[in-house]
Amino acid sequence: MQSRTHTCGELRAEHAGQTVTLHGWVSGLRDKKTIFVVLRDRYGTVQVTIDHNADQALLDAARQLALEYTVEVQGTVALREDFARNAKMETGDIEIIPTSIEVLSTTKPLPFKIDSPTERPTEEVRLKYRYLDLRQSQLQKTMRIRHKTALVVRNYLDEKGFYEIETPILNRSTPEGARDYLVPSRVHPGEWYALPQSPQIFKQILMIGGMDRYFQLCRCFRDEDLRADRQPEFTQIDIEMSFVTQDMIIELSNGMIRKVWKDVIGVDVGDIPSITYAEAIERFGVDNPDLRFGMELFTADWTGTEFGVIGNALSAGGVARGFVVKGGAEVSNSLFKTHKKKGDGAWLAFVKKYRLGGLLYGKLENGEWSGPLSKVEPEYLNTLEGVEDGDLVLVGAGPVAHVNTAMGRLRAFVARERNLIPENAFAFVWVTDFPAFEHDEDNDRWVSVHHPFTKPIDAHIPWLGTDKMGDILSDAYDIVCNGYEIGGGSIRIHNAEVQSKVFEALGLSEAEAKNKFGFLIDALQYGAPPHGGLAMGFDRWTMLLSGTENIRDVIAFPKTTKAQDLMAEAPNTVAEEQLAELFVANTVPADAE
Ligand code: AMO
Repeated sequence: MQSRTHTCGELRAEHAGQTVTLHGWVSGLRDKKTIFVVLRDRYGTVQVTIDHNADQALLDAARQLALEYTVEVQGTVALREDFARNAKMETGDIEIIPTSIEVLSTTKPLPFKIDSPTERPTEEVRLKYRYLDLRQSQLQKTMRIRHKTALVVRNYLDEKGFYEIETPILNRSTPEGARDYLVPSRVHPGEWYALPQSPQIFKQILMIGGMDRYFQLCRCFRDEDLRADRQPEFTQIDIEMSFVTQDMIIELSNGMIRKVWKDVIGVDVGDIPSITYAEAIERFGVDNPDLRFGMELFTADWTGTEFGVIGNALSAGGVARGFVVKGGAEVSNSLFKTHKKKGDGAWLAFVKKYRLGGLLYGKLENGEWSGPLSKVEPEYLNTLEGVEDGDLVLVGAGPVAHVNTAMGRLRAFVARERNLIPENAFAFVWVTDFPAFEHDEDNDRWVSVHHPFTKPIDAHIPWLGTDKMGDILSDAYDIVCNGYEIGGGSIRIHNAEVQSKVFEALGLSEAEAKNKFGFLIDALQYGAPPHGGLAMGFDRWTMLLSGTENIRDVIAFPKTTKAQDLMAEAPNTVAEEQLAELFVANTVPADAE
């Protein structure tokens, strides 16, 4: 094999006449009067043209090629005839007239054709043959975007005085919300490491250790239910700073977002607004609202209505909330109803996933209301703002949390169904002033909404442990883009006394708190600086930057929603001896999957 002189993507008209050596995969083959071979590498594609009058050895070599063979081509760059120029190909002004074609490796029959415009392999097949999938242009693109984003982030944070510091992967189990992945210790029988759900405690310790500004592109591990935007191992751009306020962290993050979006995909992000958690719920029902479109929620404050579903929900302490779908009267009623044979219509089934019993609808056509909402008294129905002839009104009634989530999610679902979402738009928003604690009804106790190191806002610290626990707001913030939570963080408690009060309010004894978070509690007593930070979901950033809604498209070797790697076949069983060495018994019941 010779050294390559150029990559497949870089040859242009100005290279005409040069002798070149290229390496790549055969991505196209045509044998007519002339043989055309398209050669592909990471940088692009180029056409190799072999005339039928060419040397017999060369014709033989070209004829034994097949798709995805790896080859070396030596030859001369030639300008194409005008009629043969291909404007769709970056190298479309030239072609290679080869002097030799050497096969470097052949291939077994392919499970799918790379970048076929007609046949899309299933995701299962793509993940099993990930090495072939990685050759496809989509993954070539997302890997480039991912790399470039990491580079821009690193340079930006370096310029701002941050150190990238690694924290342990083999860690101590500390409760952080999700289930831990555990690793048994061979040296300490019966003891376990946990893989970090995030480097939260270590980054706080780094601040106490005087590192001032830390970041890390770190892998986090969480054994939780997976979704299109969740992986069991994912990457954060993790950040912590000393002597900072929420405003300073938001300003730094805005600068980083602007720089990445500009440098990686050429988009000007501009100012990023902030809304409070309460406002997010009021306007959108959810704390990760998609601001690319309107259709905000209203509250149907119709106490006194005789209309049963709403009246009952309100008198039971619930709410009725909904939104107006412009021009939605054309939507088929069957979407909101249960059918004897086919079951629930799609929109009804959607809200049921979020624990709403039903979906109320009303249509205004020719000045007349139809649908269940037409039974609501006109004095209530007419209070709805912005309803015009031809519109559809959707309302959910029931417990507050269910209604907000269901109607908030339905808002996004309907926007998509009705093409209300502008393409290539990015709507960023900070959500601030989260409640610090929520009541766990099952266990009748308060739990932290974020983690117990999150600082309550100063004015609310005296409410710790009082009957105003539920009103305490925290100095925490999330950054949301297009309906995805793409980052979040908080100002931390740096005062050991406040920290103790929080543990007490959460019903954790000093001993329990020490057992769970011991080393941080100790460290907080040694001159801890005020500090705070956040973590950005690097995979979700890459999803947005590359325009995909599937997190598996931005990770080279992702796991399925069942947490499997189909190529590596992980997880797998291990030898009994390995288990014995780790003092782990194999206790899987015979009927387990
Ligand atoms: P949090 O748990 O909110 O905060 O995580 C920060 C961001 O990480 C992303 N993310 C995920 N991405 C893919 N798959 C997952 N399973 C997943 N889980 C979370 C989200 C989220 O906004 N230590 C705190 C941060 C801090 O307080 O500084 C933390 O981990 O985009």
